[in-house]
Order: sequence, then structure tokens, then C-alpha cells
Amino acid sequence: MQPLVQRLGYVALDVADIDAAIDDAQAVMGLSLVARDKSHALLTANTRHAELVFHQASESALRTIGLEALDGAQVDEVTRRARAAGVEIVSETPSLPVIARAVTLRFREGHQIEVHTPMRRDQPMRYPGPGIHPRYIDHVNLAARVPAGAAEEMMQVLGLKLSERTAGWEISWMRAGDGRHHTLAFVKSEAPGLHHYSWEFADFADFKRLGDVLDALDRRLVWGPGRHGAGDNLFAYYVDAAGFLVECTAEMEVIDDPAFEARIVDPGENLSNYKVVNRWGQLPSTAWMEHFNPCAAVREPV
Ligand SMILES: [Fe+2]
Repeated sequence: MQPLVQRLGYVALDVADIDAAIDDAQAVMGLSLVARDKSHALLTANTRHAELVFHQASESALRTIGLEALDGAQVDEVTRRARAAGVEIVSETPSLPVIARAVTLRFREGHQIEVHTPMRRDQPMRYPGPGIHPRYIDHVNLAARVPAGAAEEMMQVLGLKLSERTAGWEISWMRAGDGRHHTLAFVKSEAPGLHHYSWEFADFADFKRLGDVLDALDRRLVWGPGRHGAGDNLFAYYVDAAGFLVECTAEMEVIDDPAFEARIVDPGENLSNYKVVNRWGQLPSTAWMEHFNPCAAVREPV
């Protein structure tokens, strides 16, 4: 059975200061602002209508993860599986008018996911302005109290495939239909939420430019650049104006073997096994390891 979602569609975040969040996303990542009003903003890095959504709120929190299904039949099957598994169905109305079909689910620890048919591609591929201009939004690493249960529930309902995990499920990485090593990952935490989300860069020169842009703004990278062992992807991380940990990535492993057996890896005490964590040797900062944003309490789609 193929996964019922193809790739990450969007990330929707609550932010305490929407003007500052928009300014940051444009100045550093170089996103294109598609639409905004007092309480919402839609941003993208390519032709898709929205890849990052901000909501004005009292505190920064993860609101919704959008996962793109190929068609309405996949949305129907996800809905059927969610009902069978007892997962809460928040809405069957698409969150945005540029989405034809969708179902929004709230999983057991509080992570809200909208499985949706592809968003309309009505934006220009290239646009002017500062910042890096990434290729697309790529993956999310979620935090969960019981990461094994949270991951297994999402694999059951969304058809995600396990690519890699630690022996005790402290970290697990799951792939969608596009075969990329992970579209969703889980890490063990004291509360459910978000560890980081990521943008795909075009090449390594973009990582240099990111460091220089942050330096010019008197800010700095939280970790990297380096290359993760799990996923084989290049990485660098910074914290945005709203307090979210943002990964910039490139060259992630693609798994196209239908008989692929998930790897079980040992990240070492405090992520000290550099062959899994960062093959170039530099281990994560305390700020990176301790980073956390909670799930928002709202039960409504974007
Ligand atoms: Fe990541």
C-alpha cells in the first residue's frame, strides 16, 4: 500500500506578533507574501498558493500541518481510517479556498493535521526581494510524550512509512509518497508540540548566504552547517522572530525501494554519535536540543 499523503503541504503557526513574523520570513528566508490581513498571512516560496501560514495569537504555537494527498480518493481513505482508529475529525471543510478537498484530524497527543488535495499553483515561480528564496517547505519534526504511539497512529491513518528510528523510538523518521527519507519525524518530549520545520535549499551556496544574512541582522545559526546521518541531508538551523526553530536542508536521501526495511540506529547519549547526528562532527547546541514550541489549543482548520 502506497502512502496516502505525497508530501508536506504547508505549516500553519500561531505567532504573537504577526508583523514581526512576516518581516522575518521575508528578510531571512525570502518568502513571497501572497495575502495578509490583520490576523492571517499566507507566504510561499514557489508557485503553490501557501506553504507557511501565520495566525495572530497570544503565543507562538504549532497550529496545523498540511499534508498533500494526490487526490480526493486518498482524502476519503484517510477519513475512513481516522474514523476506524478513533482519531478526532475536526473538519471536512478545506482550510483555504485554493484547496478542493480536505479532512482535518486531531491526533491523540493534540497534533492537528489537514490532509488536502494539492493546493492551487497560482503564484509566480520566481519573485524579487531579499533573503534566500528556498525551493519549497520540506518536513516537520514533531515532539510527543509517547513518540512510538504517536508515530504508529500517524502511520496507520496516513499510510506513512517508517524509514529509520532509534531502538527506544526516542526519534523516528517517516516518509510520504515522494520517498524522501522523512516528511514527518517524532522526537520524545515532555509535552506535544513542534521541534522544527524545514525549507529545502537549492545548493550549498545558500547555506553560506544564510549565515551572512543572519550575521548582518546580528543573529546567528543555532547549529550547523552539517550533514545528518539520518536522512543524509545537509542542514543549518536558526530561530525565527516568532521563536520557531527553522531548518534549512538539501540533498535528503530518497527511498524508492518498496521492500525497504527501516533502519534502527543509536544516536548515542545526548546525541553524541556523530555518524547518526552530524557526519561532519559538530554536535548540537543545548539551544537546539532543548528547543520546543507547543501545540495550539484551537480546534479548527487554518
Ligand atoms: Fe529536520
